[in-house]
Amino acid sequence: MTPTTQTSALMGNYAPPAIELVRGEGPYVYSADGREYLDFTAGIAVCNLGHAHPAVTEAIIRQAGLIVHTSNLYGHALRGQVAARLAELSRLDQVFFCNSGAEANEAALKLARKAAAMRGEADRVRFVSLPGGFHGRTFGALSVTPKPAYHAGFEPLLPECTAPETFEAAVEAIDERTAACIVEVVQGEGGVHPVPTEVLRAIQARCRAKGALLIIDEVQTGVGRTGTFFAYEAIGLEPDIVTMAKGLGNGVPIGAVLARKDVAAAFTPGSHGSTFGGNLLAMAAAQAVLEHVAAPDFLAHVRRVGAYLQQQLTSRFPEVTGRGLMWGITVPDASAFVQKAAEAGLLLTAVAPTRVRWVPPLIIDTSHVDEAMTKIQALV
Ligand SMILES: Cc1ncc(COP(=O)(O)O)c(C=O)c1O
Repeated sequence: MTPTTQTSALMGNYAPPAIELVRGEGPYVYSADGREYLDFTAGIAVCNLGHAHPAVTEAIIRQAGLIVHTSNLYGHALRGQVAARLAELSRLDQVFFCNSGAEANEAALKLARKAAAMRGEADRVRFVSLPGGFHGRTFGALSVTPKPAYHAGFEPLLPECTAPETFEAAVEAIDERTAACIVEVVQGEGGVHPVPTEVLRAIQARCRAKGALLIIDEVQTGVGRTGTFFAYEAIGLEPDIVTMAKGLGNGVPIGAVLARKDVAAAFTPGSHGSTFGGNLLAMAAAQAVLEHVAAPDFLAHVRRVGAYLQQQLTSRFPEVTGRGLMWGITVPDASAFVQKAAEAGLLLTAVAPTRVRWVPPLIIDTSHVDEAMTKIQALV
């Protein structure tokens, strides 16, 4: 069936989708032509509590009946409550809300530059990022995303951004002119590759030594995806700035930048903003998400089911890498594999020509993993 979304009124920046989804429940989604799929894409690592989660749905409906949007001209207790919870979970101090991962990274880069300027370090303007990293598609976020295919036709990008070809060279590149180094703990779009712990620790040490800020991009890895609330917790990093989005709203658009107080102080009134940032529907959804995902039992569940998924994948595929419920496998042709899996009733994403990503909702149990393995039996 040709999806009705395939209309000439939509710009051509996405490949035409083969499936039109109209409903979801837990880890399952249903297409317009009535098929059921086990959704191991979770809206690209977004719907961590699955589809139509009762607590999130109830929170959205309740808030929609009260007030959806006020802008930041007016206050609301929800905004402060969600910010305080994120500060508590991250051990950082203050939060800026926006609407997406790219926006969060954009704001983080601006914050890092302004924090340096406010310290009187006008020359500290550079950004260092890692090979294989992905931080979004706005000009700033794209400038620290070293993927030539994504740059093509959009240059010139932001000056003073460097992403050396090796991790070691990236560590070396952090110098006295570096405002910040931005990293993912597990490179999701880069193929689901965890960055080696010693590299992350070396980056943190070098940032400290050179006076640069460490931004950890938890847009994909945050909100329990890797088995701890933030992926950096598992390796004991202490970032100056953390960016979030995706799972935080379980599908309601949201982004957040978390920072230490002395860094956050650079965002003085009027220096940065977003009409929709801190939108009350997003805040209501985020509050419900945090109540569930940040619970120690829930995170233990992610680690337990994640270990089972890893074991099942490892017995079938080469180069199984990831953490928690975020895994990548290597296959000869990722697009063909994803298409055949969908035909068998399992949704997955291709993140590279030979890499397939598994990011199911975090609410799945081992029976869903077994069901996924049965569906791909003929493809292994
Ligand atoms: C690590 C990371 N950062 C940033 C982004 C960009 O987020 P968004 O698509 O919400 O702008 C993504 C999206 O996949 C991501 O995985």
